[in-house]
Amino acid sequence: MKYQSIKGTKDILWPEIIEWRKIETIARGVFKTFGYSEIRTPIIEETGLFIKSVGEDTDIVKKEMFSFKDRGDRDISLRPEGTAPIVRAYVEHNLDKTEPFQKLYYMGPMFRAERPQAGRLRQFQQIGVEAIGSDNPALDAEVIFALTELLDSVGIKDYALRMNNLGCHEDKKKLSVALKKTFSKNDITILLCDDCKRRIRTNPLRILDCKNENCKIVVRKHFKEIDFLCPGCKTYFNEVLQFLDLLDIKYTIDPYIVRGLDYYTRTVFEVTHIDLGAQNAVGAGGRYDNLIHDMGGPKIGACGFALGVDRLLALRVKYTMPVWQRESMAVFIATLGAAAYKKGYSLMGELRKNDIACDIDYENSSLKSQMRTADKFGAKFVYIIGDNELKNGSAVLRDMKTTEQRMVKFEDAAKVIKDKAGRC
Ligand code: HAM
Repeated sequence: MKYQSIKGTKDILWPEIIEWRKIETIARGVFKTFGYSEIRTPIIEETGLFIKSVGEDTDIVKKEMFSFKDRGDRDISLRPEGTAPIVRAYVEHNLDKTEPFQKLYYMGPMFRAERPQAGRLRQFQQIGVEAIGSDNPALDAEVIFALTELLDSVGIKDYALRMNNLGCHEDKKKLSVALKKTFSKNDITILLCDDCKRRIRTNPLRILDCKNENCKIVVRKHFKEIDFLCPGCKTYFNEVLQFLDLLDIKYTIDPYIVRGLDYYTRTVFEVTHIDLGAQNAVGAGGRYDNLIHDMGGPKIGACGFALGVDRLLALRVKYTMPVWQRESMAVFIATLGAAAYKKGYSLMGELRKNDIACDIDYENSSLKSQMRTADKFGAKFVYIIGDNELKNGSAVLRDMKTTEQRMVKFEDAAKVIKDKAGRC
């Protein structure tokens, strides 16, 4: 029986892995420029962490978590997102006591049991940041700047940034009550999809971003009447937009963005791309001013974003048309006969200990096919050892580019190759 990877998960093979590494390297560079340091948290967490933060009535918690009982009968989940675990770590390690304002970045797999389709996986990769410990509107703009800078550096064009203001906790409550009242009216309820009919009771805000065409029409007609933002939150959002203008970041305001996670307050944003089809969000985030306190920490504000790397990669391949090459190595040791192989094998050990990237044949190949392998590996040199070379104590070093050949003594091989090939 042959096993297959689980539906909604995927293997990342060469050459795609090269693009993954490039994106990760670019991201690390951007985050360094912006003053973020890396954090790694476990893939498993207590289920309660996500119920409390992401919210009991969200799709993620209700339908999409991979949850199980561990051997000690504890409720555990594979993390569906990175914000809650990072806030948990911030509070657990009392980071506010050493340095209350922390700019952290992360990259790693997240898990959601969604119905797999193009761009929607059950194990997917996110790169994100969380800036914890400030309620300055300049920080919201900086977080968004890090996101757009990363997209630009990866080579993505024509993405759209949409912004919205959800208001503070009280504003959200006001909005929720108003939505409940409006959409509970029988003549309006009847026009909504079954999910939205349920949302009137469980999570009225989510009615605003329902994808159903009928619901969109109904929402656009009735939402206009609701004024829920307090003066402080209105001013705050205007300041965020002014800081975005200072950074020359283009956006549109979309009052229907509510996000599928309950912890957001005030600023929320999404970055979409038309080329991604139905799953068009490449990244998203926002401010979560109550989460740290709700998780047992101090009363401080925070803001962050996460990018879906699988979607980012799909776009990058389109824009950059990468040419993939195997990583080059300094030298391939080609041998003829069993005795020469043993000499080549011990030489390989010596070269590697000297930090010289090299390889040798493992398939009992002919000399011709070893030369082909050397070429495929992008070897700068081939060191060719046969019976005569063994007798003479030196072998041919062939430059694969110029085809120039010279005899090099075994004891000099490491030094000569290092001098000529440098570090590969
Ligand atoms: P999110 O919108 O749930 O936000 O996810 C962020 C990004 O992850 C999405 O825009 C998308 O690109 C990618 N993504 C989500 N689900 C999938 C999936 N099933 N398959 C492939 N890609 C997916 C968050 O996770 C928040 N923690 C973001 C944040 C950070 N907010 C504040 N700080």
